[in-house]
Amino acid sequence: LRAGVLVAGAGLLPATASARTATAAPAPAAPALAGAGMNRVDGWRKVSGTADYPNDVAEPGMAHAALACSTIASGRITGIDTSGAESAPGVLAVLTHLNAPKVQRPPGEPPAPLQGDVVDHHGHYLAVVVARTPQQAAEAASLIEVDYEVRSPVVAIDDPRAPRAPAGTGTTRGDVPGALADSAVRYDATFTTPANTHNPMGLFSAVAGWDGPRLTVHSNSQGPSAMQESLAAAFELPAADVTVVAPFVGGGFGSALRTWPHVQLAALAAREVGLPVRLVLTRPQMFTGVGHRTGTVQRLRIGMDRDGTLRAIEHRSTQTAAVDDDNVDPVTSGTAVRYACANVATHDEQVRLTIPGPCSMRAPGEAQGNFALESAIDELSYQVGIDPIELRLRNFAATDQESGLPWSSNALRECYRRGAELFGWSRRPAQPRSLREGDELVGYGVATASFPFFGLPCEASVAVLADGTAVVRSSTAEIGTGSRTVITQLAAQRLGLEVGSVGFEIGDSRLPTAPLAGGSGLTGSLGAAVDAAVLRLWQGFLDLVADDPAAPLRGARVDQLAATGGRLHLVDDPATGETYAAMLARHGRGDLAADGAFDSSSHDVNGLSRAGAFGAQFVEVRVDADLGAVRVARIVSAIDGGRILNEKTARSQIIGGAVGGIGMALFEDTATDPGTGRITNATFADYLIPVNGDVPDHQVAFVGTPDRFNPVGVKGVGEVGLTGLPPAIANAIHHATGKRLRSLPMTLDQLL
Ligand code: MOS
Repeated sequence: LRAGVLVAGAGLLPATASARTATAAPAPAAPALAGAGMNRVDGWRKVSGTADYPNDVAEPGMAHAALACSTIASGRITGIDTSGAESAPGVLAVLTHLNAPKVQRPPGEPPAPLQGDVVDHHGHYLAVVVARTPQQAAEAASLIEVDYEVRSPVVAIDDPRAPRAPAGTGTTRGDVPGALADSAVRYDATFTTPANTHNPMGLFSAVAGWDGPRLTVHSNSQGPSAMQESLAAAFELPAADVTVVAPFVGGGFGSALRTWPHVQLAALAAREVGLPVRLVLTRPQMFTGVGHRTGTVQRLRIGMDRDGTLRAIEHRSTQTAAVDDDNVDPVTSGTAVRYACANVATHDEQVRLTIPGPCSMRAPGEAQGNFALESAIDELSYQVGIDPIELRLRNFAATDQESGLPWSSNALRECYRRGAELFGWSRRPAQPRSLREGDELVGYGVATASFPFFGLPCEASVAVLADGTAVVRSSTAEIGTGSRTVITQLAAQRLGLEVGSVGFEIGDSRLPTAPLAGGSGLTGSLGAAVDAAVLRLWQGFLDLVADDPAAPLRGARVDQLAATGGRLHLVDDPATGETYAAMLARHGRGDLAADGAFDSSSHDVNGLSRAGAFGAQFVEVRVDADLGAVRVARIVSAIDGGRILNEKTARSQIIGGAVGGIGMALFEDTATDPGTGRITNATFADYLIPVNGDVPDHQVAFVGTPDRFNPVGVKGVGEVGLTGLPPAIANAIHHATGKRLRSLPMTLDQLL
């Protein structure tokens, strides 16, 4: 695949030589994609019930599993009585730590299930019960009797009993204490953010079956290839003996990045009973078994000159972690690079609690850290009497403050300008609590949004069939972001085919290896891999006709080619060429295929610039003057996501991110009872999320240019749209009421 790697950089954009010297100059405009604002290619399947979500998979003879979970958060199992469960109707097997086979713990994954008697969080799996029906399995699981040696749970971030340690992230530059002491304006405040739970609509499930030594699992996954590797490690199998299938996911937001223990339990159960087994988590189990956003306490100290120039920033964060699972959200990382500032110290600390393991959740770290930083900048704007946008412009970071590297592209200033214009920011009176309509206090708020962009190694294949249509293949997952659609568009454009003539097979670990669909990084990596595969496919066609006297393209080179209307032809002489179908037919071929790969480490621009998506997000809030109830009345987001492949799906990503941001700001709070360590609101009735009535009109404007960091020109739009919302809402609430809220979620009791 090396050749594919090498040509990846020569794709849709000239991303090579010029980028070395002129990363700040605008990149050339990329050609509009076919179907630029088209609907999702899989939309009709999703709304017609024909999309094959993992928990819809039914295998012949399939049995059903249910889990018994601990009702304590900390302690040891001293006795477990499964006799009632074993004799319950329909029960085929009951596995506990006393009889479960050994399962290895794969690198980076949570502890393997049923491997000991220690309980270190509420909801810890005690047993898996397999029965003929899901109801029989659930009933039998409820009959399991457990005796514990109970220890006191440690679940509060400020509990002095909890072990704490540096998280290994953070940076120091300049003289922070000195610059803080010298600053004319000083700021010191503490922010708290609670645990949030991802709550994808689709309940996570696993349908596992064994064919001799070979395991097949249908499961919710943001990366079937990663889950394949994880399961192979857990069961000590060759990777080739494990297949993971996940063409549709049902939502992820980060919770499907890992292989959680329930997947291993489904596989164990299936091996035990010699039948395929389906295990579907309950909604409460979704709160304890598949991760959550870590809670934080953050202290920000900032020194500023009277003219608004940032002199020093110190950002220290403590975040929650599980006793025996590793997750670090880079809470303070954004602070180190957001604004021009010579003296910066950031530090992340972890405190280990008897809670379920946290994991990445949409814009991990950036979401919590940006709430603190962008609230603080807003507070400072009042202290120095400078408009919040002007203050941000004065401290614009023209280069990456950590490395000194130029940005691969950065239209943040244009985001402020365009967003302010669309929002009507000039109508904002500087004085808080000065806008009122009837019983409602009205406030305007703005915040910078940002999310880093990076590439990951990725493979894809492209085949053209005898009828001139094409099939793209990659193991990647579609978690609802629109990847299936935009990659289909990219492939169609590159191949010179109609979008409807390109199929895209994904969600299966037997397909070419794609990275996790996460970190807003997939489209760039996969797009580049597809691009490379297309170029190698063209080479394949040239090889096919190399000795063919009837071939117009005999002797041509790939770099001379373009494709339109299903025809491969010379760029400079479009009349010279022929259709894919004609070449295949003349040579008696049913198809022609090629692999391609992208590896960011071999991509020219990597290491020469720093990439990221940016944005400015504006919010109007209405606060009931008597009751304190907060309503977000409208949102404007101006986003620099590099090249926008599909205006519609990209806009949906920004809107979806903002909905998550509203939830984080005003509603979401995974609450843990300090006495029992139990999550007290682990249902959709009790865990509040925004509903349609909480989500206002949201105007999204894309600014910026195709980026040079990635051959496709994108910078990722999956997460940036969340990051500005919590602080923009906090800043708008302050503007409306004069009250500064530094603790999420911002509930009405804080405003009375
Ligand atoms: Mo995202 S938290 O990388 O799925």
